[in-house]
Amino acid sequence: MVQHLLLAVDGSASSHHAANQGFGLARQTNSKVTLVFVLESPPVIPVGPLSGYVMTSPPRTEADLERARAELKTLAHDSGVTVDTRVELGAPADVICELADRLNVDLIVIGARGLSAGTRWLMGSVSDRVVHHAPCPVLVVRDRKR
Ligand SMILES: Nc1ncnc2c1ncn2[C@@H]1O[C@H](COP(=O)(O)OP(=O)(O)O)[C@@H](O)[C@H]1O
Ligand SMILES: [Mg+2]
Repeated sequence: MVQHLLLAVDGSASSHHAANQGFGLARQTNSKVTLVFVLESPPVIPVGPLSGYVMTSPPRTEADLERARAELKTLAHDSGVTVDTRVELGAPADVICELADRLNVDLIVIGARGLSAGTRWLMGSVSDRVVHHAPCPVLVVRDRKR
């Protein structure tokens, strides 16, 4: 029996589809929901002459934070269940797994794909990593239209 679900969204339609499946399950099981959006922190070069410099992606801004918060608020508002929303900073899969552990959730619900356009693989790198490292069962929702 599930009582607490962790739904992870990244702004993609696929993640929203997964979240909506999660909300449906939460309504059926009377579970509470934690909804998380992880803002990926830019990698910092650990060694060498450029160490400490952020090279590969721009830093997160206040606007990114607000966008993520607004997205979670809209999803939660339309869901019809009790939702705790949180925006976290870090490596998405690791943050999702740590949070699942810390909150002792019964199930993680994620999309098979996210924002990256590639269709070569069944699952994206975040869903793949969550499936391999999660401390609890994971529901990976494939979007039939894709
Ligand atoms: N930054 C993130 N914050 C929260 N959930 C995420 C994040 N990135 C991915 N996810 C979850 O993982 C699913 C798969 O995304 P991902 O593995 O990144 O695929 P892709 O490679 O297509 O972007 C998403 O539908 C979402 O549920
Ligand atoms: Mg992604």
